[in-house]
This record gives sequence, structure tokens and C-alpha cells, in this order.
Amino acid sequence: MISETDIRQRIIDACREMNRNGLNQGTSGNISVRFEDGLLITPTAIPYDEMSPDMISKIYLSGDMTGNWEGPKEPSSEWRFHWQILKHRPEFNAVVHAHAPYCTTLAILRKPIPACHYMVAVFGGNDVRCSGYSTFGTKELADMALTAMEDRSACLLANHGMIAAGDSLKQAMWRAVELETLARQYCQSLQLGEPVILSEDDIRKTLERMDDYGV
Ligand code: 13P
Repeated sequence: MISETDIRQRIIDACREMNRNGLNQGTSGNISVRFEDGLLITPTAIPYDEMSPDMISKIYLSGDMTGNWEGPKEPSSEWRFHWQILKHRPEFNAVVHAHAPYCTTLAILRKPIPACHYMVAVFGGNDVRCSGYSTFGTKELADMALTAMEDRSACLLANHGMIAAGDSLKQAMWRAVELETLARQYCQSLQLGEPVILSEDDIRKTLERMDDYGV
């Protein structure tokens, strides 16, 4: 069994990795992992290189969205969408949020990602939606993110960034990287011409194959 301290350290390692690989920058972005009856989440506005396991906050998932938290530092300003997703989507155990450049470019244009590549199926269907806009940290944004992620494991956040979720932190991070790759491919294809979009049938067949492939 992995200890709570190890989970806290893995959250910090994942944050550093997402900044190293260009998925995020500065103190933008945040990560949460389900733990016992709540979630562990990065503190707000702390550079990832200065973060230590004791600084990770704990928020309870039971009851309403009260915002009761434990820890020496205030939790991420975006704890509400982490809370909404982990509360209402029991299949997920980790949520990654980043201001990934290509995802954010599309989110600024309020463009969802269509089935421009078969890998869109990794996120559960034939598109990745873009939520509406609301000020960062608000319950309204959390509600819109939850709606945009219906039957999906990721979404874009209008004029903001992206969210990817998974059954583990490893899977959520993998999806975050795949989503940014897909967004880059879509942005680049838009610059060269009119992307050809795969049909619902193409994506259905992809989903069937992916069951065997193990993603
Ligand atoms: P936090 O530092 O509060 O996690 O906020 C960063 C961010 O990306 C807000 O959307």
C-alpha cells in the first residue's frame, strides 16, 4: 500500500514533470488525487520546486462543497472543480489541470477538439468539449467543467486551459500529455487547411480496438 506521504510526493513530482515537459508553466495548474474520504491537492500559488509533501492540502468529499480543508497552506484556488469531478465521477482518482499552450489556444478560440485524429477516442468519444467561461476558482467554473466532461475524461476550459482525469495519477498525466499533443496537431492542421474529421463510426471502431489495446 502506498503511503499518504508517497502520494503527496507523487503529486509534486507530477507538477514538476508537467512544467518540465511544457504542459504548464510557473505556478499555473494544479493536481489532485483521491485519498480515503477526500482528496489531496496542491496548495495555491506555491512554485512547484518549493513544494514539499506537508504543504499538500486535504479536502473532504463528504457532504456539500463547504471548502473545509486541512493543511498548513491554502488549497489550490481551483479546488472546486477537482472536488466536483472527484465527487461526481467515481471512476476517476486523479485530476490534472494545466494551462497547456495548444489546449489553451483552442480554448481562447472556444473551439472544441473534434475527431481530427483517432486518439480523440482516448477521452471517451468523438470530441473534447470546451466549457463556458467563468472566473478562475468559482463554483460556476467547477459546474461548467463537470458538464463539459460528461462521458469524457477531459475538457478545455474557455480562455483558461484544460483538465484531464484518470483512474490513477499516471493515467491522468498520460491523458494530459495526449490531449496537448492532439490540440497541437489540430492547431497545426488548421493553419494548413481544412482538417478532415473522422465519422462517428470511425470513432466507434477505434473505441472497440482500444479496448484490446489497453489504453
Ligand atoms: P493555484 O495556484 O491556486 O492552483 O491556481 C493556478 C491556476 O491554474 C488557476 O487556474
